[in-house]
Amino acid sequence: MHGQEVELRQTQITYPNGFTAVHPTDLTVNAGEFFSILGPSGCGKTTLLRAVSGFVSPSSGQVLIGGQDMAGIAPARRPTALIFQNLALFPLMKVWENVAFGLEARGLSKRDRRGKAAELLELVALPDQADKLPGELSGGQRQRVAIARALAVEPAVLLLDEPLSALDLKLRSHMRAELRAIQKRTGVTFIYITHDQGEALTMSDRIAVMNEGRIEQVGPGDEIYFHPRTAFAASFVGEANVLRGRIAATDGDFARIDTPLGPMRARNPRGLGASEAGLLFLRPESLRLGAGENTLTATFQRRDLEGGFANLFFSAQGQELVAQVRGEAAAPTGEATLGFDAKDALILPDGPLARTGREEVALA
Ligand SMILES: Nc1ncnc2c1ncn2[C@@H]1O[C@H](COP(=O)(O)OP(=O)(O)O)[C@@H](O)[C@H]1O
Ligand SMILES: [Mg+2]
Repeated sequence: MHGQEVELRQTQITYPNGFTAVHPTDLTVNAGEFFSILGPSGCGKTTLLRAVSGFVSPSSGQVLIGGQDMAGIAPARRPTALIFQNLALFPLMKVWENVAFGLEARGLSKRDRRGKAAELLELVALPDQADKLPGELSGGQRQRVAIARALAVEPAVLLLDEPLSALDLKLRSHMRAELRAIQKRTGVTFIYITHDQGEALTMSDRIAVMNEGRIEQVGPGDEIYFHPRTAFAASFVGEANVLRGRIAATDGDFARIDTPLGPMRARNPRGLGASEAGLLFLRPESLRLGAGENTLTATFQRRDLEGGFANLFFSAQGQELVAQVRGEAAAPTGEATLGFDAKDALILPDGPLARTGREEVALA
């Protein structure tokens, strides 16, 4: 098996009701890459994937696979296979028969189909399960059978639409490692769709962050997490404290921003100029107890112990702040002084934030 490149050129998808689910998008997924598309529910991920698989046609622009324009090429004739959350295995067929299902149409003998199924089951780490029925397997094992079945037709590109979302938490994190290993073993291009940042960060070579039909940033996980380019990416991927403000002055790669909690100095990667509106982002793990290069005061609210670490919640000027500290660290009482380094905070242009669970609680 070998992967192929997938390229979108100004691909736009408008549904018949006139709703544009994907605005003109340029994107290149490299051959053999584990590529994730990460974004909240409804942002257009499935629609984009359907354009690659051929179940919807772009309203304008192109989809190329292996350099070939896919216009007019039916899903079954594309070098792609699709896996989604509700993987319908045939309950009355043995595991190997499920895996080999697509091969009969290709004229392989029963013996060859069985041989091929055995190879694929080996590949997904299920070597001794060939003669079982799907009902005799665990959820994670069934998921691996579905992957083996999708790989049986030797796709150059495997499209995975939130395939782990039906599994329980523990299995989900186990399957992350499995999927990653399968992708590396096969060299097939994986395009993996998820709304779960943990999945995207742990598995992917690169991630595209998508919001409201647009890809806002493409890059490796480290880049997305440590160097987000937009307010949406900074707030959707990982937790962040956000302070709204206005740039007072710039100095090199840094700027000073006036916020309701006082002036703060932070990185200014987008080069905002004096008097422009900006948002200051600070990860909870970068906010510390005690004064720092930037210092603020806030009222301690509560401590949530997560195990190895604890989240300390504060309020300041009606705004919630979170500091992540070691689990055994003592919580402060009343007014507390908090600090952070300028290099750990960044200022981005004002723009829409991702809706997080915490905001919804605050709104309720
Ligand atoms: N067949 C359709 N007709 C009209 N709108 C659709 C159709 N399918 C999806 N949409 C809309 O397009 C947007 C993106 O949907 P989808 O691609 O399924 O998002 P995601 O997979 O990111 O959750 C949503 O607002 C959804 O309601
Ligand atoms: Mg979807």
